[in-house]
Amino acid sequence: MSEFVIQAAYLAASVLFILGLKSLTRPDTARRGMQQAAIGMLLAVIGTLLNHQIVDYKWIVVGLAVGSLLGYPLGMFVPMTAMPQRIAISHMFGALAATLVGVAEYHTESAALPTARMAALGFEVLFGSLTVTGSFMAFAKLQELMRGKPITFPGQNILNLSLFAAALGGFGYLIASPGHPAVFYGMIGVALLIGVLMVLPIGGADMPVVVSLLNSYAGLASAATGFALGNTVLIICGALDGASGFLLSILMSKAMNRSFRNVLFGAFGGDKAAAGSRTAEGLVAREISVEDAALRLAYASKVIVVPGYGMAVAQSQHQVRELAELIERRGGDVKYAIHPVAGRMPGHMNVLLAEANVPYDRLYDMEEINGQFEQADVALVIGANDVVNPAARNDPGSPIYGMPILNVDQARSVIVLKRSMNPGFAGIENELFYDERTSMLFGDAKSSLTRLVTEVKAL
Ligand code: TAP
Repeated sequence: MSEFVIQAAYLAASVLFILGLKSLTRPDTARRGMQQAAIGMLLAVIGTLLNHQIVDYKWIVVGLAVGSLLGYPLGMFVPMTAMPQRIAISHMFGALAATLVGVAEYHTESAALPTARMAALGFEVLFGSLTVTGSFMAFAKLQELMRGKPITFPGQNILNLSLFAAALGGFGYLIASPGHPAVFYGMIGVALLIGVLMVLPIGGADMPVVVSLLNSYAGLASAATGFALGNTVLIICGALDGASGFLLSILMSKAMNRSFRNVLFGAFGGDKAAAGSRTAEGLVAREISVEDAALRLAYASKVIVVPGYGMAVAQSQHQVRELAELIERRGGDVKYAIHPVAGRMPGHMNVLLAEANVPYDRLYDMEEINGQFEQADVALVIGANDVVNPAARNDPGSPIYGMPILNVDQARSVIVLKRSMNPGFAGIENELFYDERTSMLFGDAKSSLTRLVTEVKAL
């Protein structure tokens, strides 16, 4: 009977994971998706707790208590801007769990392991351990515990590939002859080192792609754990995790017009503008006062808001919504243009705007809104830079050439809110800021928007 209940719980959990992923594809159903996935995870945990092989619940209860104590503040109090590093550290814990399960299984059975189980175990600890250190490195770079810039040295890629070949060699050896603990633990040591070295040459701002890739490794390690333990729900959710993390990494790279190889080995995001990209020497940007910007927005009939990373840094999403409501009350139409890689993680802008209660139907994907910029009286760019840089269209020498962008430069007028003329993530000049139709409103986005709200209210 209990076996039936366990399998039913696992089946329901798997269905909920799939439904959850599906719901997460749209902003208006994303919250529900998270709830479905969370209920799925609860069912999977309950199903596992009913397992008759459990002989003692003491340490499980301790684990549940410690996990809940850590998980609650991680979910509730970590700010949205720190979400990428929070996700990285969660992957580290997931991968650590998979690796430790593998080590425990090997420790109890080693020489007696049949080939298929040894293959699953080897895969689990190999990918698990490189994800542990890789995720920790990603966390450290994003949290600025270490230099976020790419760290490179001669022969780096050859060293990494050699280490990976050595780890794979150990893996193959163990499949043929499992009873060699020195090889097993040596392979883990090499994989831990690979995790560190793999992330060193990647710039802090590229980290979301890497975190997503490490997520897929952790998923694969979990699926392998499922095979080793004969646990169906682990196989299913590990496979979902592995596949969705991998697809997401590809989608993110594509949206940045970067190849996977370039993200992983390209040491992008350094200090200097890339050779060949145009500079702004001799060009002058026009500044606008808050009063003039408020006037232009208040009397505009079509406004397109373009949020970017700076909106997240300034946490100014509530002020954006307030300003949009004021414009709408005066008869203007306000839409939001969302670039797929605006900010620093997938869906970054959608989540922030949803938090500020911006109606979902005002959010438009790049393909939907790009044709509408020509009719916009004002494109209001809030802390966005690379995703509106026309060099991606016009300058073959630019590192972002070919990246799809929002056609802000086609609007009748553009107001850009940022603090300085500093570049964004790609480290390159933006010709949009020097365009004759563009006006710059310098300052922190939150304080500029607060002043704009006050001015528009007074009109
Ligand atoms: P960015 O190009 O990074 O530009 C952000 C701009 O915000 C900066 O130029 C900065 O200028 C401004 N800013 C920062 N803090 C501000 C504040 N407090 N108030 C006002 N402005 C502020 O951002 P984007 O246009 O959103 O582009 C995202 C970039 O990240 C793309 O290159 C993308 O490829 C990359 N990326 C994205 C992802 C995902 S999944 N979203 C993942 C990896 C990489 P000032 O310093 O002058 O204020």
